[in-house]
Amino acid sequence: MKNTPVETAAAPPRQSLLVELDSILEPINTAGLFPKAQPLEVELGCGDGSFLINYARQKPESNFLGVERLTGRIKKVDRKARRAGLVNVRGLRIESTYFLRYLLPPQTAAALHIYFPDPWPKRKHWSNRLVDAGFPALARRELSAGGTIYLRTDAAAYFKQMRQVFDASPEFRAVETPEELAAVKTDFEMEFNARGIPTLLAAYQLVSN
Ligand SMILES: C[S@@+](CC[C@H](N)C(=O)[O-])C[C@H]1O[C@@H](n2cnc3c(N)ncnc32)[C@H](O)[C@@H]1O
Repeated sequence: MKNTPVETAAAPPRQSLLVELDSILEPINTAGLFPKAQPLEVELGCGDGSFLINYARQKPESNFLGVERLTGRIKKVDRKARRAGLVNVRGLRIESTYFLRYLLPPQTAAALHIYFPDPWPKRKHWSNRLVDAGFPALARRELSAGGTIYLRTDAAAYFKQMRQVFDASPEFRAVETPEELAAVKTDFEMEFNARGIPTLLAAYQLVSN
C-alpha cells in the first residue's frame, strides 16, 4: 500500500487523502495512514463526507477513515478534508463489507459510524442491507476493546432490524449516543430533518470480544 507522506498540522496536505491500495488481498496498515498514532474511527458509506469532516475537525485526537463506494462522493471527501487542512482524515473507495471482512485488521476501530445506509425498503432486497443478522459478528471482530458502533437512519423498518440484531448480540450493550456526536449531522440527515423527517439513532458498545 502506498502511504501518503506525513503532513504536519501547519501545512495542509496537498496530496490526495484517498488511500491507494497496492493489493486488495492484504489487510491495511491503518496506523501507517496517519501522522499520529491515535484511535481510529471508521465511517462506512460516508457519502459526501460532511459528518466525517466536521467530526474530524472537532476531534483531532482521533484518526478518521471514510469508506464509500462511489468515486464522485469519496473525491468530494478528499477535496473537503484538504480544504479544511485536516491531517486526521483519509478516504477509501471500496465496498464496506469487503473492507471490514478483508482489509481492516481485527480489533482496529475504536468506533464504527453507519449513517443512513441504503435502506432497501422492498422485502426482496433486504439481503442487500449492510446491517443484517451477520453484521454484529463482523463489527465485534473489527472493534477494539470497549469500541462502539453508532447507527442512524430515517427508515423505521431498517432501524428495527438494526436494533434487533444488536440487541440479540450478547457481546454488545445499548448505550446513549453522546450529545456532541449526535449534533454533528450528515448530509442526508440535514436533508431529511429539513423535510421534517427525524433521525432514528442507536449505539452499541462492545462489552466483550
Ligand atoms: C443514503 S447515503 C448516506 C450517506 C451519508 N452517510 C449521509 O448520511 O449523508 C448512503 C451512502 O452509502 C454508500 N454505500 C451504499 N452501500 C455501500 C457499500 N456497500 N459500501 C460502501 N458504500 C456504500 C452510498 O454510495 C451512499 O453514499
